[in-house]
Amino acid sequence: MPVATAVAHPNIALCKYWGKRDRPLNLPSVGSLSLTLAPFSTTTTVEWGAERDELVFNGRPASAEEARKVFAVCDLVDSWRPRVRVASDNDFPTAAGLASSSSGFAALVLAATAAAGHPRTVEQLSVMARRGSGSASRSIFGGWAEWKLGERDDGMDSYAFEIAPVDHWDVRMLVAIFDAGPKGVSSRDGMLRTQETSPFYPAWVASAPRDLAEARAAIRDRDLLALGRVMERSALRMHASMMAADPPVLYWKSGSVWAQECVRSLRDQGVPCAWTMDAGPNVKVLVEAAHADVVAERLARVADQVHILHPGGPARLVP
Ligand code: PMV
Repeated sequence: MPVATAVAHPNIALCKYWGKRDRPLNLPSVGSLSLTLAPFSTTTTVEWGAERDELVFNGRPASAEEARKVFAVCDLVDSWRPRVRVASDNDFPTAAGLASSSSGFAALVLAATAAAGHPRTVEQLSVMARRGSGSASRSIFGGWAEWKLGERDDGMDSYAFEIAPVDHWDVRMLVAIFDAGPKGVSSRDGMLRTQETSPFYPAWVASAPRDLAEARAAIRDRDLLALGRVMERSALRMHASMMAADPPVLYWKSGSVWAQECVRSLRDQGVPCAWTMDAGPNVKVLVEAAHADVVAERLARVADQVHILHPGGPARLVP
């Protein structure tokens, strides 16, 4: 039976994706930009040919909803495919706003195309990963990646590409965990509710292109304070748009606000750092490597756990 295993790292968006212009194709309303992060990873093995479709997720049979999404992506690899067995393991908390779906679908498409004997270009892999989870389009790439909005109705020009390699800039992303449980509202449902009911949603979409342009320039210049201004603005505008939905989508906890204040005070003391948040209460802090320990020590006073991540490489096949 043909078998392949792939490893991918999650990514954290610095300019956020929130909202879809096409739901079935998972086409975004805005472009987005991220940093792929190690050592967190997902390892996925696909057996192309099995008695029945089976998904084992972190050692346990997956839910029907998880299985539906995974096998729909396998159908994209080959619509005449045989039944397949997929086993996927995360070495970090799943569904805690740490973008586990980004590494999950990136590893899946790489392993599935290899097991099926249908190798694809990185752009094609990124398009396929996008269908599983938007952020996964970026985890095909290492380092700093941008996911293009694209213009085509079929979505074939909405894929990610590397804007700077993994060794471009020696930064760390600290993940301060306040709640490692699964989130109350999925990003998929939260986005939908925001675009259907939030009066702030059009303003969010209109503000994104400027954020992307400024973020690209700040990354090119390795200017953490300039990148930090864009990161925090993008995260705050995304969260403002969802908080104004009806009913509101509110992921923040008291610890989230505390961590933001901690970052601001460190910055006032001359430590360049900046925060971002996704669809969950946890706060991620970008800092240059030399300052990572001091920031981690400060965050650890209130967070349940603090993880120190570094730029990670692209999704890859493993023997
Ligand atoms: O790719 P999804 O459907 O898990 O959505 C990701 C949404 C955010 O994490 C909040 C933003 C982003 O760009 O990753």
